[in-house]
Amino acid sequence: MVNINEPTMFLIGLVEKACLVVAIDAQARYATAFIKGDFTLPSKQTMMVEWKGHADALRDEGRPQSHIHLLDDKEDAYYAALTKESGISRVPPVLSRIRSHDTEEKRKNLYTYRDYEYIVVDNETFTRRLEK
Ligand SMILES: *[C@@H]1O[C@H](CO)[C@@H](O)[C@H](O)[C@H]1NC(C)=O
Repeated sequence: MVNINEPTMFLIGLVEKACLVVAIDAQARYATAFIKGDFTLPSKQTMMVEWKGHADALRDEGRPQSHIHLLDDKEDAYYAALTKESGISRVPPVLSRIRSHDTEEKRKNLYTYRDYEYIVVDNETFTRRLEK
């Protein structure tokens, strides 16, 4: 999300397989916290080493470089990392769980998965019920 060569430039919303609205909100809060001076970024060199490690891991798994923005089962860990780095409030894990569950339901029941509504019970858990 941070342009390592111009580390005051943030690219918000450049994620795949994530709840986009939630991701954009978290990234915007992260960028705002940075602009307000709530935290400082690591050095360019440190960020480059981290980015390269991520890119190398993708290559080693035989995946394309474009997957660098793919969150999927790492979505919640991503939000946890944003909170750890910047001190922004944590995206409740339940939101990634709902996205993940809904994606699975879409695969299994393409014609009926939209018939349900999700109810957040707490930061960790949800239920769902058939919409009337
Ligand atoms: C739920 O998450 C919010 C946002 O991170 C946090 O402020 C709140 O304390 C959490 N609630 C519980 C019960 O952990």
